[in-house]
Amino acid sequence: MARPTEQWGTRIGVIMAVAGSAVGLGNFLRFPATAAANGGGVFMIPYFCALLLLGIPICWAEWTMGKAGGRLGLHSCSAILGHLGGHRAWRYAGALGLLMPTVVYLYYVVIESWCLGYAWSYLCGTIDLGSDPAEYAKRSAEVFSGFAGDNFDGVMFNGTVHTSVYFWLIVVAVNFWLIYRGISKGIEKFCNLAMPIMAVCAIFVLIRVLTLPAVHEAGETRSVLDGLGFMWNPKPVHEGQSALQALTDPKVWLAAAGQVFFTLSVGFGVIVTYASYIRPKEDIVLTSTTAISTNEFFEVCLGGLITLPAAFIFLGVVGASKGTFGLAFNTLPIVFQNMPGGRLFGFLWFFMLFLAAITSSVSLLQPVIAFLEEALNVTRRTSVTILAVVTLLGNLFVIWFSKNLAALSTLDFWSAEVGILVFGTLEVIVLAWVLGARRGYQVALDGAAMRPPAWMYKYVMRFVTPALLLIVLGMWCYFYMGGHLRSIGQGGVPALAVGLIGLLLAFYLFMAHLADRRWGPNRVAIEVCADVAAEGKK
Ligand code: PHE
Repeated sequence: MARPTEQWGTRIGVIMAVAGSAVGLGNFLRFPATAAANGGGVFMIPYFCALLLLGIPICWAEWTMGKAGGRLGLHSCSAILGHLGGHRAWRYAGALGLLMPTVVYLYYVVIESWCLGYAWSYLCGTIDLGSDPAEYAKRSAEVFSGFAGDNFDGVMFNGTVHTSVYFWLIVVAVNFWLIYRGISKGIEKFCNLAMPIMAVCAIFVLIRVLTLPAVHEAGETRSVLDGLGFMWNPKPVHEGQSALQALTDPKVWLAAAGQVFFTLSVGFGVIVTYASYIRPKEDIVLTSTTAISTNEFFEVCLGGLITLPAAFIFLGVVGASKGTFGLAFNTLPIVFQNMPGGRLFGFLWFFMLFLAAITSSVSLLQPVIAFLEEALNVTRRTSVTILAVVTLLGNLFVIWFSKNLAALSTLDFWSAEVGILVFGTLEVIVLAWVLGARRGYQVALDGAAMRPPAWMYKYVMRFVTPALLLIVLGMWCYFYMGGHLRSIGQGGVPALAVGLIGLLLAFYLFMAHLADRRWGPNRVAIEVCADVAAEGKK
């Protein structure tokens, strides 16, 4: 079943591509909103615990499986889990590693198109909130709903198609063109270019925000330091509690775990696929750790210092306390309206968000492309066409049911919040228990420039991570599942969105079935890894 395999061109290229997948809307929008709502500085304690005990171990598990799979010429979760798991049932379980990225892509690319649309509007100077500051908030909300249609379902606004639809078509075309060009000529080349541009844009905006003069309003003065304080000072989650009591709130820990998964792109099956394209003796620990550090820099140092402090300076607590989308598309345009040079900085900011998003969305497509090629033995052109048709229909669903962003939030909940916990658990079980932590460790050591600590594989991956994952999953179900199940029960968009996920799952399971018949029984992987383990011991 091996096809001529592709490879990443250079080590720095892999790092850029993986960091490109990790750095996304999650870093600049989801992180500040989540941190500020969950205790400010105190949030960083559960955040770093989740990073160390869940994020990094699962990330390394994904890299290890990807590397082992790539040696066998395999690139999709279904094939890799099937082989490493030594049982055909894992091929079907691997279908979750196709479902998750597809579902996230369906709404992620729509938000990406909003970012490009806003960048374009700032460049052309067409976002204008009028001259009356008291009207800015209303105007900003109107601009957004005229653009993306979050006030009503359908794709029309005042008799014309939403402007965002045109940007969506452009963004989809670029995504698929990059995927069609392939791993090193498409994704890697693009990320090598986009990542530095993103960093430069973000640093420009950061300098602007950190040098903003204080705003005096209604007897109150708000400076940059106050803005940073709003974001980072420990603060209670509920009124009447102390800041430290946030640490006793399980929901704060859940939010931290969720953020870590989302921002590192772990538990989606994306890293397994990306890692399968490295050269056979490439180091994975140094590479993945560099990508993780890059992501954390973008998240904490850039995401954490720009969005909320800026919103706070101009709009105070109320303006800075909006959720992810409110912050990005309602509050920030007001900030740029108030800020000297706002048009330029508005452009830089939204263009940077667009680049951050597109380097992530291509990584959401690649797992399925790899799978279709392996499963059906089709050409790149065919695999790209199949996926384009499926995702275009799915995108239309998200765009159509845009009222209150209902379709988007339901898809997000079931994939990026719950689904990844399930799939992440399956992944560590395959690596640490079925294949075996020791064999996995040897695969990671092979060619390693930086040796991973053995305890990470022997203890953390085997016991701590799976146990924590089950606890987190259990808590999710306890706190949030009921409400979501009830809203599905009431029918309407949430029920349709879950139906769509079910349909996609059925599609991938059927494909996995076709693949299973084509691939036949195969238990080679454990032996290959055993060879590596034996070599490692010599
Ligand atoms: N990590 C990306 C972000 O922070 C989201 C993402 C998840 C991208 C999974 C790819 C895969 O926005």
